[in-house]
Amino acid sequence: MIFDFEGQSIDVRQMGEGPDLLLIHGYPLDGAMWSSVARRLADRFRVLKPDLPGRTGNAVAASGSLNAYADFIASILDRLEWPVGLAGFSMGGYIGLELMRRRHPKVGALAFVDTRAVADDEAAKMNRDGSISTLKTQGVEAIADAMLPRLLSPEAALKGDLTERVRRIILRQTHEGLESDLRAMRDRADSTALLPQIAVPTLVIAGEHDLISTVAESQAMANAIPGARFVAIPAAGHLTPMESPAAVAKALGEFFETSLKPEV
Ligand code: MLT
Repeated sequence: MIFDFEGQSIDVRQMGEGPDLLLIHGYPLDGAMWSSVARRLADRFRVLKPDLPGRTGNAVAASGSLNAYADFIASILDRLEWPVGLAGFSMGGYIGLELMRRRHPKVGALAFVDTRAVADDEAAKMNRDGSISTLKTQGVEAIADAMLPRLLSPEAALKGDLTERVRRIILRQTHEGLESDLRAMRDRADSTALLPQIAVPTLVIAGEHDLISTVAESQAMANAIPGARFVAIPAAGHLTPMESPAAVAKALGEFFETSLKPEV
């Protein structure tokens, strides 16, 4: 799908046919983190997996604002027909929460994948600033070294090909793009009070060994959203869509198949 946003021509990668699923990636990644899940869903859905601003595949400048990322995703939603299934992984989930705050009318069902509703506390904000300094002094490679053990479970980290695929995605990110993500996440609003107001069918997913968004926190997030379901992905760490794509695609496929069905 090609469209204009802020004077730039944007090409959103898409595959398959059927109801629209819009998959939002996390930090420090791009839309390719969804490839294995998207391939499995493309037999039943049209799957769109955009790169956020500041990526090599997106010429829109990154401004360090979660609101600006949400503006970008909203402009894709504006071009789609209701009801769209929206799935946000981690930072992508923070953007999904922002779209819920705006009550974007095109979202028909929502999946939060390894994400959190709380804002950064003071310690987390300091860590973001530390990562921005690391980026400035040591570059993107140092971010890859620091993030890989947080993204993958110890078992998955032993699989050299998976680690290499994740590293390759991180290493193609720009300094500007990653600094923008860190500022956007550091300054994002707390969404805890928003959860009980979410009025679309919602699924929450977390890896059993996720260190960033734990099972307990994700389960609590699901409990706070009316009617939300929770699925734990066995043995996986934070990056479930790349570690366990079959299990994530199964959970998303079953959920969106029922929740995006038109009323009869
Ligand atoms: C992500 O996976 O998008 C980030 O690690 C989330 C975060 O650091 O808050």
